[in-house]
Amino acid sequence: MKNYFSNLSPEIVHLIRMIADEADQRNLSAYLAGGIVRDMILKRKNLDLDIVIGDSTETVASAVAKKTKGKLTVYRQFKTATVLLPKGLRVDFATTRSETYAKPGAMPSVKKGSLADDLFRRDFTINAMGLCINRNQFGVLLDEFDGLRDLRQKKIRVLHKDSFSDDPTRVLRAVRFEQRFRFSIEPTTLGLLKTAVKKNFYKTASAGRYFAEFKKILDEEKPMPALKRLKALKAYGFLGEEEAADIPFLEDISQKIARLKRRKECAENYQWWFIYFLSIVAQNSEKFHKKLLEEFSFTKEQKKDILSLSQWKSILAELSDEQLSRSCVYKRLKEFSFDFVMFLRIVASSKDIVDKIDRYLLKDCRITLFINGHDLQKESGIPGKKIGFILDRVLEQKLDGTVKNKRDEWKAARLLLKQEC
Ligand code: CTP
Repeated sequence: MKNYFSNLSPEIVHLIRMIADEADQRNLSAYLAGGIVRDMILKRKNLDLDIVIGDSTETVASAVAKKTKGKLTVYRQFKTATVLLPKGLRVDFATTRSETYAKPGAMPSVKKGSLADDLFRRDFTINAMGLCINRNQFGVLLDEFDGLRDLRQKKIRVLHKDSFSDDPTRVLRAVRFEQRFRFSIEPTTLGLLKTAVKKNFYKTASAGRYFAEFKKILDEEKPMPALKRLKALKAYGFLGEEEAADIPFLEDISQKIARLKRRKECAENYQWWFIYFLSIVAQNSEKFHKKLLEEFSFTKEQKKDILSLSQWKSILAELSDEQLSRSCVYKRLKEFSFDFVMFLRIVASSKDIVDKIDRYLLKDCRITLFINGHDLQKESGIPGKKIGFILDRVLEQKLDGTVKNKRDEWKAARLLLKQEC
């Protein structure tokens, strides 16, 4: 019997043994299932452990949370629980279940089932294996659907012909796994997937779920191959009626993003998935952008960014003015989120504009004044709104180099106060 556990760190093996002990003490079956099993076989790192248990999920999860000092969250209606451990490890517990879909794309109705039922409800054979962790059968692989064969043959295969109509988000998942692992979608599955695309199965799933799966593609280490594949499959219809995703434009952006992500000051500071998203829809009309906001949920700031897309070419044209002062660049960029400014930097074609945006992102956006509104108000007694205006002007003078130190700031502020009164 192959020991797939040897690819895991001793710390994770210890954790798995401890979870198994809790299940054994209660005479319950316990399996690792889904993506973690696939990744153990592929020797890929995965910090999410999915455990399926015969019963009493909540009891086992809370015992594990107690022992590991992890944070427990219980979803009683779904009979699932999550324990978040220090160091970013996550353990998801679920009771083995079977699912049926009342109509295509609907949320499944869930009832207790065997482990085989639980594996059968899953998306692809490579994600439908279970690995027993109970002491007496530790390491036994449950592989009723030939997932191991498909992993070896590098194939993405659905378990049954209704898989995409049951859950249309699997169209995106198939492409994501195919491109991530450099596998291929096997011919019958590809035929079913193409039908799902052609017949717009996505319409039967909730927009939120479908978009969440798309976001996972954008969050991949290298999203570009999947974005290209979706284009070839004509699978962007879920975004709207216009054709989205200009591939040559995206290829250029993706190379720039890859370089920027390697920079320490950039890697963690931006929502790269969102910058990809902006790039995918950047060339579309304002009407299309407004429709996106109706269809999918975004934060307030993201909504503003999407609506600003209609101006990106004109903002770059403004920034190309060689006479533009440093404070004017600051004022123009300050009204946008950092993600949007980064998007502008990426789509800018001239070095001069890139330098201006870099100076803003790396330096100017952090420049502050020594003086503050409170001190100014104490000195002048004029209302807050005007104080804000004065501080903004002093900051602009500081950016343009005419104000250098605290004394200069006070001098400039007093002059402005005099002019304002
Ligand atoms: N799953 C499924 N159908 C879906 C979503 C999930 O069958 N629409 C099952 C698969 O068995 C999958 C598991 O639930 O392996 C966990 O889902 P998820 O965390 O989304 O995927 P992973 O396979 O773990 O992929 P990743 O490595 O990207 O986390």
